[in-house]
Amino acid sequence: MKNFKLNVIPGDGIGVDVIREGRRVLDRIAELSGALSFQYNELPWSCEYYLKHGKMMPDDGMRILRDCDAILLGAVGFPGVPDHVSLRQLLLPIRVEFDEYVNMRPVKMLPGLNSPLKNEHIDFVCIRENSEGEYCGKGEWKNAGQPDEEVTQLSVFTRKGTERIIRYAFDYAKKNGKDNLLSATKSNALNYSMVFWDKIFEEVRRDYPTIAAAKMHIDALAGYFIMHLDRLQVVVASNLFGDILTDLGSAMLGSIGISPSGNINPEGKYPSMFEPIHGSAPDIAGKGIANPMGTFWAIAMMLEHLNCREEADRILMAMQRVLKDGKALTRDIGGQASTTEMTDAVLAALL
Ligand code: NAI
Ligand code: MG
Repeated sequence: MKNFKLNVIPGDGIGVDVIREGRRVLDRIAELSGALSFQYNELPWSCEYYLKHGKMMPDDGMRILRDCDAILLGAVGFPGVPDHVSLRQLLLPIRVEFDEYVNMRPVKMLPGLNSPLKNEHIDFVCIRENSEGEYCGKGEWKNAGQPDEEVTQLSVFTRKGTERIIRYAFDYAKKNGKDNLLSATKSNALNYSMVFWDKIFEEVRRDYPTIAAAKMHIDALAGYFIMHLDRLQVVVASNLFGDILTDLGSAMLGSIGISPSGNINPEGKYPSMFEPIHGSAPDIAGKGIANPMGTFWAIAMMLEHLNCREEADRILMAMQRVLKDGKALTRDIGGQASTTEMTDAVLAALL
């Protein structure tokens, strides 16, 4: 019997709904497998928590979080607390302090989904740098409110941070039989950070002669995503670029509610964290209509990470059955079902 301890942060808005449904899927998979069990430690850290305590998590939050096999997160952010506060006091410290430097984001068309694009062959991964870069949080705000007001937002790209993510992407390609890798850049305009990124990319690619590797400016790459998406296999990108490209990637599948992400500490020194890529969606929060598929997919990624491949596949198969069947789809993908009804269908389809 394998017992996994999970730290669970539902967070805000629809994060709460999708995590509640995600736990039902986990419980069912444990029941079906008979060889697995999950122990949940649910943490109330959220914007609501912030409004009560003046912080997004307690001072010993990172210590509490560390003690688990994996972290499952819904989404954080809600009107009333500035987004940079909720993000910078909860999500980003976890990613950085637990050295979850790989943000793994599969973008894959599942049968039954309706892409807004004509070309429906979509199957690639975006590997996003997750620990530094544009999201390092450094900068300066001078002369606030004055005519000469000025802000500086810094990016930090280290050799260690840049090399390890690019190498991870090449290794991933090699391991998974992919022969094509694209690096997102903007070295024509970003004359330090992206020139450096390109230089490291050139160094690393020499070690992988069998993989066709090229760089592409992020603006051109955004267009390429739409025009030539069948050629995409592995994309490696900095923190900001990867963030933007993967929302685009999920929209190409028909909804931002579909796609998952894994914040991975490849060395296993710290727990990795799994979450849907969407945010807390205040516009639909409390309505019970959020699509929970992104969370189920994130759970499948988590199970794979925990070496429960068979159970991960079972969840993905059940999701595909429900999508293909088309009777229990949420509104964002063209149906009328509630979050709970869609989950009921997935539970019924879990074999
Ligand atoms: P969002 O992803 O929350 O919503 C964008 C649009 O997609 C909205 O119209 C929303 O209704 C829709 N949507 C999102 N998830 C959906 C789902 N599962 N099913 C159906 N429709 C869905 O992004 P937005 O509006 O930019 O941000 C809202 C809040 O979430 C902000 O406070 C932001 O900071 C936070 N956020 C948090 C993230 C995280 O915790 N990882 C990631 C992105 C945003
Ligand atoms: Mg995003």
